[in-house]
Amino acid sequence: MTDTACSRNIRGMYSLSRKAGWSEMVDGRAVERPATLSDKQRQALSDRELLEYNESRAIWHANFGPIVTPQLEETHEILWEILASNRQHGDKVKGAAAIDAYPGLGKSTIASTFGRAFHRQQILRYGDRTERGDERWPVAHIGLTDNTTIRTVNSMLCRFYGHPTEATEYKDSGTAQTLASQALDSVLRCETEIVIVDDVHFLDMTRKDGLAVANHFKWLQNNFPIQFIFVGVALLERGLMSEGSNARDAGLAQTARRWTRLNVDPFGVDSNNGRRDWRRLLLSIEKQLVLEKVTPGCVADDLSDYLYERTQGHVGSVMELIRRGCTRAIRRGDEQLTVEMLDGISIDVAAEKARAEYASALNSGLISTKVTRPRRSRSLAGV
Ligand SMILES: Nc1ncnc2c1ncn2[C@@H]1O[C@H](COP(=O)(O)OP(=O)(O)O)[C@@H](O)[C@H]1O
Ligand SMILES: [Mg+2]
Repeated sequence: MTDTACSRNIRGMYSLSRKAGWSEMVDGRAVERPATLSDKQRQALSDRELLEYNESRAIWHANFGPIVTPQLEETHEILWEILASNRQHGDKVKGAAAIDAYPGLGKSTIASTFGRAFHRQQILRYGDRTERGDERWPVAHIGLTDNTTIRTVNSMLCRFYGHPTEATEYKDSGTAQTLASQALDSVLRCETEIVIVDDVHFLDMTRKDGLAVANHFKWLQNNFPIQFIFVGVALLERGLMSEGSNARDAGLAQTARRWTRLNVDPFGVDSNNGRRDWRRLLLSIEKQLVLEKVTPGCVADDLSDYLYERTQGHVGSVMELIRRGCTRAIRRGDEQLTVEMLDGISIDVAAEKARAEYASALNSGLISTKVTRPRRSRSLAGV
């Protein structure tokens, strides 16, 4: 399968909503981990070599993972089950899965890594061409935006497959239909089985457009062999899975019954199991850091309470703070992560707002991240 320049730039950024970008995520070369050099070894580098070395560390710290957290593992398990049971139903209507949780809890990561695993499995099983000789794309991925309409959904799908008509502006309803049938044609031709729809919270269910798109998904799901995995924030509260209160919502009520809502929780430290999971996450992160003075336990033990206070167990906030800390540790030459240094870095507003409350709970001993009877913690593997 070919790559195109537009979906990837030299720093490894790519859009999962283009098949070339998706392919890069699925099959692309993993970022290489640089060696950890001592102060003496770094001093021996030329200016240019040092710049290169530090850049390779920055790229590594920005890209390592994903880590197989319990949240990721459990959600994947349920998704495999949903897929398997939908297969048994044959021509019966499939149920959709909805990963529904607050921002920064790893929803998109969970969905894309599941898509990757499924994609690889299907290609291994059936090959990268369909029987008719078309490219096989087991998974398609789109991300909704503000004001998503049926037209934009179909155009996003066309763009994922790189449909030749994607660049054309469609102005009347006839051509909007053409776009819909082209999108569907690509889905069927490429034998796509899963469509991941990220950022579904952009659908406004109080507007006609939003409702129409939700019903369009339902229609696709009912009539074609597609498994939808919806991903978004507060989908339940937004009415995406609600029963519907009037005739206009009747179709949606039916949809609600076929959605399986998968919640993603932050790391909790109110039980030993939770504290163990938290420690395993920090151990896994610690092992990935390419900083000279990072020693065993310096993150997982020494920063455990502090990182919980700062991030309240939200994986997105943890990763943001760690990545920015690494950048600072390299730029300033500290080569390690410390409370003093991390204290100078602000992260997302929600985490900063909750911090004071958690700091006082941790300081007063009301909560603790320490496992009371330590067992040998195993770090979490990467996917
Ligand atoms: N399992 C994981 N391992 C490593 N990093 C993760 C993991 N899950 C999430 N992240 C990081 O946390 C940030 C937020 O994750 P994301 O999946 O975008 O969350 P959400 O979709 O819930 O907002 C991203 O930078 C991502 O790289
Ligand atoms: Mg997301």
